[in-house]
Amino acid sequence: MRTSTQPFLTALALTGVAFSQDVSGTTKFQSSNKRGLIYMTSDHPSDDQIWVEDNSDLTWYYDYTDTPAATYSNRSQEEFEFVPMLWGSANSSGFASEIRSQITSGRNITHILTFNEPDGTTSTGGSAISPADAASIWIQDVEPLRNESIKIGAPAVTGSQSGLTWLSEFFSNCTSLKTNCTVDFIPLHWYGDFQGLASYLGQVVATYPNTTIWITEYALANADLKDTQAFFQTSAEYFDRLDYIERYSYFGSFRSSVSNVGPNAAMLTQGGQLTDIGSWYLGGAATGNVPSSSSSSSSPTGSGATGVGYKLDSYSAVLRALAFSLLVLAFV
Ligand SMILES: *[C@@H]1O[C@H](CO)[C@@H](O)[C@H](O)[C@H]1NC(C)=O
Ligand SMILES: *[C@@H]1O[C@H](CO)[C@@H](O)[C@H](O)[C@H]1NC(C)=O
Ligand SMILES: *[C@@H]1O[C@H](CO)[C@@H](O)[C@H](O)[C@H]1NC(C)=O
Ligand SMILES: *[C@@H]1O[C@H](CO)[C@@H](O)[C@H](O)[C@H]1NC(C)=O
Ligand SMILES: *[C@@H]1O[C@H](CO)[C@@H](O)[C@H](O)[C@H]1NC(C)=O
Ligand SMILES: *[C@@H]1O[C@H](CO)[C@@H](O)[C@H](O)[C@H]1NC(C)=O
Ligand SMILES: *[C@@H]1O[C@H](CO)[C@@H](O)[C@H](O)[C@H]1NC(C)=O
Repeated sequence: MRTSTQPFLTALALTGVAFSQDVSGTTKFQSSNKRGLIYMTSDHPSDDQIWVEDNSDLTWYYDYTDTPAATYSNRSQEEFEFVPMLWGSANSSGFASEIRSQITSGRNITHILTFNEPDGTTSTGGSAISPADAASIWIQDVEPLRNESIKIGAPAVTGSQSGLTWLSEFFSNCTSLKTNCTVDFIPLHWYGDFQGLASYLGQVVATYPNTTIWITEYALANADLKDTQAFFQTSAEYFDRLDYIERYSYFGSFRSSVSNVGPNAAMLTQGGQLTDIGSWYLGGAATGNVPSSSSSSSSPTGSGATGVGYKLDSYSAVLRALAFSLLVLAFV
């Protein structure tokens, strides 16, 4: 991951639309079959079951590797779809054969992800690979998997201008090597506010028209709880509404006490209970469980947040965002 906020004025138009379908006023957050899990191992293996309870909306997951998480490995693709990833250059040589072997043994792999944040440094979780190296690896180890039954995601660059530059160089280097490196969808990451996210998406759609998009990591990092929740609701509604966004996975499937994006973005409290965001993401109601950065504090439960109350908060956030945008426009 990497944090980046790049607000553009183009977000103004999009922001207005995004709020026209705000929460319905019922306490349950809207359901969606686009949502997936970013699986990370934790010190609390029992947390793994939270994401796959019977009432969970989550339909798929990825774990940054080419093999299913042990904890879900007895679930079929129909039950909980595993999406393998070719993480970086060190993982490329055995990748295609691993995928083929899983298919042969009965796992119906239909989508794969490639190169986690190749433009990012290893210290921030990136796979630090040049566009030219990625292009040759792609041609040798990824392209052979491309057929009607396997859809391939573009390298998952960081949510930044340098990420988009990396991606365009990658395609250009592929072309130099006489291959188009055709992708079936483009995964995006975003850490920042909603206006920046909408603007970034607009930029990608303008650059790569008619391409399906997955948002495979996103969160508003290190913000207060109210803004973090407003961001979560607005972006989920936005992703659910846009047809070209096929899937999304929120970066928050961990306890608030170990979060590297701030406690408020986490879907679990320090005690391992679903936060409001965690429950909403699964298609449930607010829990009132407040996340904390401290692992020792008690985990209060309650029914403080209601859908109606939330809607008003969210609405006032829109008004503030609009007022801010108008202010910016006035100075252009
Ligand atoms: C991918 O390569 C990295 C760097 O060598 C390594 O840490 C990681 O375990 C590898 N992952 C897989 C799935 O092979
Ligand atoms: C997978 O194994 C777990 C126990 O490890 C069990 O609770 C669960 O029902 C199994 N799921 C399936 C789909 O077999
Ligand atoms: C697609 O690729 C997979 C993995 O290599 C292979 O098992 C499958 O037979 C291929 N399907 C077609 C239609 O070529
Ligand atoms: C694999 O899954 C895809 C998508 O759900 C489906 O269309 C296809 O029929 C499945 N293939 C097999 C062999 O089950
Ligand atoms: C890759 O593409 C970029 C942008 O077109 C170009 O500057 C660079 O020289 C290319 N690298 C190679 C090795 O072709
Ligand atoms: C690459 O794309 C161009 C333009 O769409 C097309 O004409 C060409 O046949 C493609 N090349 C390959 C190798 O797919
Ligand atoms: C996008 O897809 C539509 C429908 O297939 C097509 O009419 C249009 O030309 C495409 N636009 C671009 C820029 O490829």
